[in-house]
Amino acid sequence: MASARQLPAAGRTDAKISERTQIVAAGRLEGKLAFVTGGASGVGAAIARAFVAEGAEAIIADIDRAAGEALAGELGRARFVPLDVTSEQNWQDALAPFERIDVLVNNAGITTLGSIEEVTLDQFRHELDIDVLGVFLGTQTALPKMKAHGGSIINMSSLSGVRASANLVAYNAAKAAVTLMTKSCALHFAEKGYPVRCNSIHPGAIHTPIIDKVLAQSDDPDALYRSFVKVHPVGRLGRPEEIAAMAVYLASDESAFTTGAEFRVDGGASI
Ligand SMILES: NC(=O)c1ccc[n+]([C@@H]2O[C@H](COP(=O)([O-])OP(=O)(O)OC[C@H]3O[C@@H](n4cnc5c(N)ncnc54)[C@H](O)[C@@H]3O)[C@@H](O)[C@H]2O)c1
Repeated sequence: MASARQLPAAGRTDAKISERTQIVAAGRLEGKLAFVTGGASGVGAAIARAFVAEGAEAIIADIDRAAGEALAGELGRARFVPLDVTSEQNWQDALAPFERIDVLVNNAGITTLGSIEEVTLDQFRHELDIDVLGVFLGTQTALPKMKAHGGSIINMSSLSGVRASANLVAYNAAKAAVTLMTKSCALHFAEKGYPVRCNSIHPGAIHTPIIDKVLAQSDDPDALYRSFVKVHPVGRLGRPEEIAAMAVYLASDESAFTTGAEFRVDGGASI
């Protein structure tokens, strides 16, 4: 297997863009309690960071205790909660201390590489357990804590939830399920008159550890990296902060009339 060492490190791809996309904190989430799954790394960590910068308290929920606690300590107005999103009991325990939750970001996810001829049943089940069942359990458990006073549920789907790749059969199935589960929940909440909104974000390739893990599974990581860049008309991968900026909008009251919608943050890849 070729080495991925020459590839840019996660989060260090585009210094110039980074300078142009600093989040300007304006208290847009003041007073909100936000629960972010997979908040210890990558996109989830960037979301937790942006939420705190905008005045929210962030609950970082993850299986990675060390990274989650370190980030919570660094952010200050944040707490780490251990959570495996595939466990119903874990969800009950994690949410029990909170009387109300304003924002739930169902972000935890994995990416299984492989075509229909390559992915095993166990791999397929594992992908769906985390990326689909996790969103189902999170939404079901958090809803009673949002229903009365209002809330925003943000599901992390993907470009792969709207566009297929031959070597992503499990991930495509999982993220497409999240896309439609989001809309079903949004409709149900609206029909019931719950002041709860549910939207999905569809990132293109964002340079985070998940991308590094996918590259590490490949026989030719350099070629795979170039192919990731190529699908984005803007000619680069995205940055976690660029997804966090969309999550801030969806978490805030600015998006009060927005539900059941797909937000593609993908450098034009889905055009
Ligand atoms: N990075 C991308 O290019 C990209 C593109 C589109 C969508 N996404 C989606 O964004 C989300 C975050 O991806 P990322 O790139 O930040 O990945 P990442 O690997 O950097 O972070 C994922 C986090 O989820 C946690 N996690 C994994 N399994 C878990 C479980 N069972 N319970 C609780 N936490 C668990 C991990 O510990 C990690 O902290 C995922 O849903 C992913 O599918 C990522």
